[in-house]
Amino acid sequence: MSKLLIKNIKTLVQVREPNVLKVSGEEMKHLPCIDNAWLAIDNGIIADFGTMDDFPGIEDWKGLEIVDAEGKIVFPCYADSHTHIVYAGNRETEFVDRINGLSYEAIFERGGGILNSAKKLSETSEDELFEQAMIRLKEIIAQGTGSIEIKSGYGLSLESELKMLRVIKRIKELNLIPVRATFLGAHALPAEFKNNKQGYIDLIINEMLPKIAENNLADYIDVFCEQNYFTYDETKQILEAGKKYRLIAKVHAEQMSHFGGIKAGVECGAISVDHLEFCNDEDIDLLKKSNTMPTILPGAAFFLNLPLPPARQMIDAGLPIAFASDYNPGSCPSGNMNFMMSLGCIQYKLTPEEVINACTINSAYAMNMSDGIGSISRGKKANIFITKPISTYGFIPYSFASNLIESVYLNGNKQII
Ligand code: NIG
Ligand code: FE
Repeated sequence: MSKLLIKNIKTLVQVREPNVLKVSGEEMKHLPCIDNAWLAIDNGIIADFGTMDDFPGIEDWKGLEIVDAEGKIVFPCYADSHTHIVYAGNRETEFVDRINGLSYEAIFERGGGILNSAKKLSETSEDELFEQAMIRLKEIIAQGTGSIEIKSGYGLSLESELKMLRVIKRIKELNLIPVRATFLGAHALPAEFKNNKQGYIDLIINEMLPKIAENNLADYIDVFCEQNYFTYDETKQILEAGKKYRLIAKVHAEQMSHFGGIKAGVECGAISVDHLEFCNDEDIDLLKKSNTMPTILPGAAFFLNLPLPPARQMIDAGLPIAFASDYNPGSCPSGNMNFMMSLGCIQYKLTPEEVINACTINSAYAMNMSDGIGSISRGKKANIFITKPISTYGFIPYSFASNLIESVYLNGNKQII
């Protein structure tokens, strides 16, 4: 198998011992780096690194490929721990409706939003869905993403939820990047169950979950805990049912209102609670006593013009935070983690070090993957990117909307981007 040595790296970013699984509070301000560095990759795994002052003798490296990264910065790929990239078509017309004054909630109430995507998905074949998702996956890999979580939730029927999850499994089995699959049957109440919410919850628990478990189609279970969607009690009922099938909890929490999603998630041992626009002081206390990763989705808050989650307050209280894209057709039609970092710096007043930690090691933790990806550590998977020649790592969030990634390596192999 291939051996790769990258030399003359201006800065090797996020270099950690492999046992660091997340960084919290003050630690988030610290981003360990090596200037003027080399990085050795063997068989798709990070083998070693150091400074050019102790550049290794290369006689013993048969078939070694050498890349010169003079003036360029090397990052571990971004970990995107919250996406909905399996969807059909787009919701561009609703974008225009919102420009003309309709709210996200109003669009949902008239049968649009998630229900619009569910209708489109039911009319789209499994192969076509896979093709559309692969276009998005390749797009975000070129933007530096090297691991991903993907949710179902535009099916909302047994047949269509299974269809989505099979597409996610197909993407996972490509082994292009590590993928975690999340069952989000409780994303919205389908029209047929308008007056029978418990009936839909029973369908999730008694029919969808057993089939999903039988076919090994999901790692996580998620609920949209929100007014007009699922309550705190319903969220707990669904997450507890998922636990019986060994699915770990995640929650769409406090996005449009304070609705108890964080509490439900923490009580069910969620690996992450996501969105958090309406997170309050009590939630921060709850999170401090948990191992749950608070995850902010800056692109969704931006696209929907929502109030901003209290990121600064959370970090100052000693919490870790992760960032993810939420790539989906309704609230964030972009999976560009470079832009998420810019939003973190510009809107949330986080430092470049904090946003890089949020998009790599902490978002890897939010997928239970930070023992294998999310930092430059010996033994971790060599999913990395090399920038164009730039001044510092902070130039990426600073140059918002620029494309500064020159090459991406997955398992040590250079990708065509
Ligand atoms: O994460 N908040 C709920 N779900 C998605 C949006 C889904 C949609 O509008 O299609 C989100 O923002
Ligand atoms: Fe989401």
